[in-house]
Amino acid sequence: MRSFAGRDILSLKEFEREEYFRVFEVCDRLAPIAKERRNADLLKDKTLLTAFYQPSTRTRMATEAAMHRLGGHVLGFADARMTRAGDFYQEPIKDTVRMLEFYADVIAMRHFQHGAPAEAARWASVPVINCGDGWGEHPTQVLTDLYTTWKEKGTIDGLKFLLVGDMRMRTMHSILYAFSQFDVESFVVCPPEMSLLPEFKAELDERSVVVHEVESVEKCIGEADVIYMEPVVQADYTKGRDERAGELPTTPEAYRVTRRLLRDRAKSDAIVLHSLPRMDELPTDVDDTRHARYWVEAFNGVVMRMALLALVLGAVE
Ligand code: CP
Repeated sequence: MRSFAGRDILSLKEFEREEYFRVFEVCDRLAPIAKERRNADLLKDKTLLTAFYQPSTRTRMATEAAMHRLGGHVLGFADARMTRAGDFYQEPIKDTVRMLEFYADVIAMRHFQHGAPAEAARWASVPVINCGDGWGEHPTQVLTDLYTTWKEKGTIDGLKFLLVGDMRMRTMHSILYAFSQFDVESFVVCPPEMSLLPEFKAELDERSVVVHEVESVEKCIGEADVIYMEPVVQADYTKGRDERAGELPTTPEAYRVTRRLLRDRAKSDAIVLHSLPRMDELPTDVDDTRHARYWVEAFNGVVMRMALLALVLGAVE
């Protein structure tokens, strides 16, 4: 297996099967620190820089919390408009990153441009972690989702996943790439204008990822072990900031997972994952059903970032 020390985490496209299990094993090892709300000292001599060019609640703060839990130091920005990249100068990634690499030992970046973290990694001498790039990928979120699945189901192989939402979404790209390393079957439900792009479908086919496109949740929810959701009432991920303007549309019934649907049609042990934030596709009354796992997923998001930071900074081998 390749070493994680010094490595960028940019995509799940090239992530190998045993690497998932290696990351999960480190998560298991570090989880008690987060569970007991302790701060350890594993990364006490290391510094994380978060460079967020797009809003975030979970990914940025889970990554920062992870660094604090391991005793490391944190600095960064959550609004590029307060840096030279977001004002008059529009400083390019190369110039920005060639500064940032002197300020920290690892850079966690979210950007509205697909490929921006990969561009940063070209210029940075420290590891770069992609925290979401445009519609591109969101590897740390999907590693969290797969770890949650593995913990809850005891396996990933043999499961059937129902993916609901906007298939242009970065999480959907990362999870479908990840499926190439597991024996899983997936059902995809989305509005036609949010379908998997033909070139991505061809790539999935090349990677032997089994995807069935279905027109509504109702038609396939009964097959699913894991229901994996994203909104279809969605922000524009190519923008640095997308303000809400006027009345929003509601989510059509075909793309919603309701308490009633879970009761009447879902497997009794099906779990619901949602990376959040949600809109009306996942009503809040699902939260107290036995199916909901998105709050567990939120906790695991901190644990996963702890594991990734420890691995890329060479603190665990
Ligand atoms: N799931 C996720 O990426 O959430 P944030 O946008 O709040 O980071």
